[in-house]
Amino acid sequence: YRVELDASDISKGTYDTFMLKEIDEQPAVMRKISSHYFDGKKINVDQKMLKDVADADRLYIVAAGTSYHAALVGKDIFENLADVPVDVELASEFGYHMPKLSKKPFFIFLSQSGETADSRQVLVKVNELGFHSLTMTNVPNSTLSREATYTMELLAGPEIAVASTKAYTANIAVEAVLAKAMGELKGVKAAQDLDLQGQLALAANAIQTIVDEKDKFKKIADDYLKGKNDAFYIGRGIDFALSLEAALKLKEISYIHSEGFAAGELKHGTISLIEKDTPVFAYINDGVGAAHTRGNIQEVAARGAHVLVIASKQYAEKGDQVIIPEINEMISPIVSVVPAQLIAYYASLARGNNVDQPRNLAKSVTVE
Ligand code: AGP
Repeated sequence: YRVELDASDISKGTYDTFMLKEIDEQPAVMRKISSHYFDGKKINVDQKMLKDVADADRLYIVAAGTSYHAALVGKDIFENLADVPVDVELASEFGYHMPKLSKKPFFIFLSQSGETADSRQVLVKVNELGFHSLTMTNVPNSTLSREATYTMELLAGPEIAVASTKAYTANIAVEAVLAKAMGELKGVKAAQDLDLQGQLALAANAIQTIVDEKDKFKKIADDYLKGKNDAFYIGRGIDFALSLEAALKLKEISYIHSEGFAAGELKHGTISLIEKDTPVFAYINDGVGAAHTRGNIQEVAARGAHVLVIASKQYAEKGDQVIIPEINEMISPIVSVVPAQLIAYYASLARGNNVDQPRNLAKSVTVE
């Protein structure tokens, strides 16, 4: 019998840290998103917004930090399901170095807090230019939510730990909801064929199997990261976007200098940093890149790296240490990020760090 966590409960309950509670809440959040946005086959989104965003000739997704990483995953989802080109932009860059915009742009802001100054200063400029925008946020009535043309809720419940976990996975799920709705409006077969409710239910169960194996990830954190000061997450395609988020989780709470890197790019210089026992976590969820990433794994192993492979069941090979239950590749980061969240959590705990309030960081960066 499993007590379904109530993601809206802002006490630690029986948990020592908010971060671990919020990691464990992710299955419940997936179910909440599914039940909120789906009513049978109907998708509950603002129809005026849907027509507006579906009419764009290009989407610009603007965000910072973990939300930026969720935007990178969203690019793949919107381009495949909504058949629209997407630019993903760092808020702190975009506001001051705005690229040449398309004829009919639409701006999507991803922000857990809805208060990030870097993102808001872009929204101010977008409003001045008269373009329409949507903010996906975990905080209704936040500044970015109020000042955008439209808003969609992440429904993840209050996220207290500075390191964002359930908001990242919720963001990807809500991007997929919107992309599917857009694609159905535009008659895109990939959107019509995607059983997103089924996939979100699968994701919830898959996350549950991972968070039920916490000891495995505590042991991995000890085996790979004890006494280490640098680490890599590598992958191709969707796994490169995922590696950036996995590395940020590890970096910001354990203080281990970790990099998310495109697996195919390592050989162009950075591989010089690989030495005996350098921890390298390799993701293989992206079918197109799988064989080549296997080659990159051999390259780093040949230089002494201590490699851990996190692979989707459909691409797993003998010897892979972490197998992820099968799920649609586009939204696979929703599940595959959870091992990285747990590895970061245990690495931080082992170093005696304040997991929920890491040094130098604030939950919402309201300065530029
Ligand atoms: C994520 O773990 C960090 N706490 C940070 O990068 C955060 O994602 C970033 O500051 C953006 O915040 P927002 O989503 O509230 O805009």
